[in-house]
This record gives sequence, C-alpha cells and structure tokens, in this order.
Amino acid sequence: MTIAGGERERAVYEYTERVLALIAKADVSPAEASWITRETVDGFRDHVNPGFLEYRKATDAREAGAVVEWSDAGPNSYRDVAGRKYLDCLGGFGIFNVGHRHPKVVKAVSDQLRRQPLHSQDLLDPLRAMLAKTLSMLMPPGLDFSFFCNSGTEAVEGALKLARAFNPAKQTIVAATKGFHGKSYGALSASAKAEFRRPFGPMLPNIEHVPFNDLLALRDMMTSCRAVGEDVGAVLLEPIQGEGGVNIPDDNYLPGVRALCDEFGALFILDEVQTGMGRTGKMFCCEHYGVAPDLMCLAKAFGGGVVPAGAVVGRREVFSRLFDNPFLHTSTFGGNPLACAAALATINVLIEEQLPQRAGRLGAHLLAGIRTAVSGHEELVADVRGKGLLIALEFRNHATGFELGKRMLDRGVLVSGTLVNARVIRVEPPLTISEDETDYVCQALSESLKSMAVPVQTGA
Ligand SMILES: Cc1ncc(COP(=O)(O)O)c(C=O)c1O
Repeated sequence: MTIAGGERERAVYEYTERVLALIAKADVSPAEASWITRETVDGFRDHVNPGFLEYRKATDAREAGAVVEWSDAGPNSYRDVAGRKYLDCLGGFGIFNVGHRHPKVVKAVSDQLRRQPLHSQDLLDPLRAMLAKTLSMLMPPGLDFSFFCNSGTEAVEGALKLARAFNPAKQTIVAATKGFHGKSYGALSASAKAEFRRPFGPMLPNIEHVPFNDLLALRDMMTSCRAVGEDVGAVLLEPIQGEGGVNIPDDNYLPGVRALCDEFGALFILDEVQTGMGRTGKMFCCEHYGVAPDLMCLAKAFGGGVVPAGAVVGRREVFSRLFDNPFLHTSTFGGNPLACAAALATINVLIEEQLPQRAGRLGAHLLAGIRTAVSGHEELVADVRGKGLLIALEFRNHATGFELGKRMLDRGVLVSGTLVNARVIRVEPPLTISEDETDYVCQALSESLKSMAVPVQTGA
C-alpha cells in the first residue's frame, strides 16, 4: 500500500502499524518481547520521563533488562512480555477490586462499545441516569445525586467546587496531614505531601490541614477559622488514608468529624476513591463507622478495572446549586457510556459475588498470615496494619521496603510502596484473590524477609 505524505508520515505510519500488529496479539515471540522491552525502556528514557526508570523496581537489571507487563493472567495476576506471571498484590492501588478483566464487566463494556462508545453530548444518555439511580440505591440514605468524571482527582475537584458553591460565605476547606486526594490544583491543595506541592505553589487559598485522627485539632481549626471570619465550609478526608500509609482512625474519629461538621454547619466530604467499592470489607468504608458524608468521591475500582471512571455523589441540597445551570461543572468524557456500563457491571458483580464480605474474610486471613511471617523480623518491620484487603507493612526505612518489594517480585508477587516511598508497602490485591494465593503471598514474604536477614556473602 502506498502512503501519501512525506518521509516523516511514512515512518510514523510504519511504526504505528508495527505496534498495532502487536496490540492484536495475545502472546508475543521472544524476538518481539525483546523489541517491546527495548522500545519501552528507550521510550520512557527519551520520551516519557527517565525518572520512572529509577523509581520502578521492575527496571532493575534483569535478564531482559526490565519487567514490561503485557497482559492480565486470570483474575488476580499479570503476565510480562517474557511470559512470567506475577500475582497482583497491588491491585493498581485499588483499581482491580472485581479482579482483572471480569467477564461481566468486559461484556457490558464490549456490548456498549459495539452499540455506542461515546454519546452525542446533547441528547439524554440513558446509562448516566441508571448509574446515578443505582448509586442512590446503594449509598447511605440521602446521597441521591451523582456527577460523573474520569478519575479520583476530578471527583475531588468536583466535590470541592460543589462545597464552595453550596456555602459561599464559608470558603475554608479543612483536610488532613498525610492525606492524598490527587494532583490537579484543587485536589493537590487538599493533599498534604509537601514533596508533591512545593514545586507548584501557591496552592488554592483557604485550604487548611489538621492532623488526621485528632478531633481536638479539628475543633480548634474550625473554631479559629470562625473567629477570624473565614468559616469552614467543608471537611475533606479519606476514611482510611491510603497513600499516606494505610492510617486507620480510631472508631470514634469519623463520627466525631460528622458531629463537628453538623455543629459548625460544614459539609463532610469523604474521599472513598481508594477505600470504596468493597475494599475494606464493606461496600464503602464509612459503613464501618456508621457515618454518612454529604459528598462522597469514588474512582479507581468504580470502573471495574476496565474503564477509567469517577463520581462525586451527594445530597440533593448540595447538588441543587447546579440545577439552574447544569453546565457550571461538566466534563466531555465524564459519565461516558463505556464508563457507566463498566460501573454498573462492577456494582452488580460486587453484590453478586459478595466481594466486600470476601474482602473482610480474606483480609483477616491475610493480615494474620502477614503478622506470622514478619514475627522475628522486628529489626526490619516496624508495624503491620489493615482493614479488609487494604493492608500495610511498615518498614524501618525506605531502602528496606524497596528491597523487600524487589525480592517479592522475584518470587512472582507484585507489591508497592506509596508513589515515591517504600517505607510503607501496601498489599491491596483484587478482592477475588483466593485463600491459596494469600497463603503464597505470606510464604513469599517470609522467604523474602529471611533472605534479607541473612548477611550478604562477600566472597571467601
Ligand atoms: C484517596 C485518593 N483520592 C484521590 C486519588 C486520585 O485519583 P486519580 O489518580 O484517579 O486521579 C487517589 C489516588 O491514589 C486516592 O488514593
């Protein structure tokens, strides 16, 4: 076939033809695998960001130079281009709650893809209405309206805007230290990690941070803000801080926050982007504490590990600020038919397979196994904690956690630290993980810790 255009177009066409042919393949040959690996490493170095090659433990000197993922391998694993299988104990930081490529989610998305992937943007799209109704049936009472978006960051952004529009006289938002809500300006301003914020300042005004799990600090902040005429309009928290290191609050904390919000006339926003969709042993983590927020943010597992999808769900009164002009806050792709199909199927599967309950049961089993595996290694491991299948291993330092991650990967188990620090390793597998697989994780952990405890041989 003759391709019109200059040399540049022809080169681009040939390159994309080669890549498209590979995309069509389930398995690749050894020669193709080494081409893919080289192109991936070179592409990250020259065209994406060379920094990733340092941070990703998978790029360590291995026989093929790097672990380059290629496919899912059953509900709970990945396969790399060389055909090696890895048990997924990271779950995409909470994306794969219903497992990888769940057939019901894939079917819903492919059915929708065949009929209509994206909508007109003008006529009424049915799945958005049906998903919003489903969420209203599933959520704590009163959370009846939904705005759909494509990510956790956008869900938080939407919640912050709704909160400010709801209460123009109360512009201060309080969030927590060690909290993480995403990286657009609003979400980043509410996030707490200095490392992510410092290069991009100034942040949005009137966003304050108080220590997590400290009701007195929150009361003091709300009181001070009122005293200076900058009243708190909303408190934004993760019910369990994920990226901050799986920090689990005392049982009375979230009910206490709810009471303070009521006392000060502030909205309570819960960011369940990571803890939602069954992860902690309940459909939504706030159910453990008997608390209902005014706005809840969802994403990650909401799209079933198949399509990016996010939502902010809230009370009619709060959403009513958008009723007169629904275009005040919109997104071209938010709530697209593929994402809605994925989310509807995901919710259906979570209920049908009782995955929240399973997360509670297997989470307790895995936590106990991990505690047994780390006992005797207190010089390496400082703490183990978790709720459901959101589990953390805290090491004495970053280097130990990073090394442990590598040794687990050598044993075919993928775990990871936070985005840039491995002092706390998260174990966050699909909720479909089997008991045998959790036992293998504990075995791999035990072997990895033992191998680290043995002094390195330096020769004769
Ligand atoms: C609690 C929480 N909120 C928001 C986000 C941001 O989500 P996204 O990366 O989809 O924008 C994350 C991501 O890790 C998260 O854990």
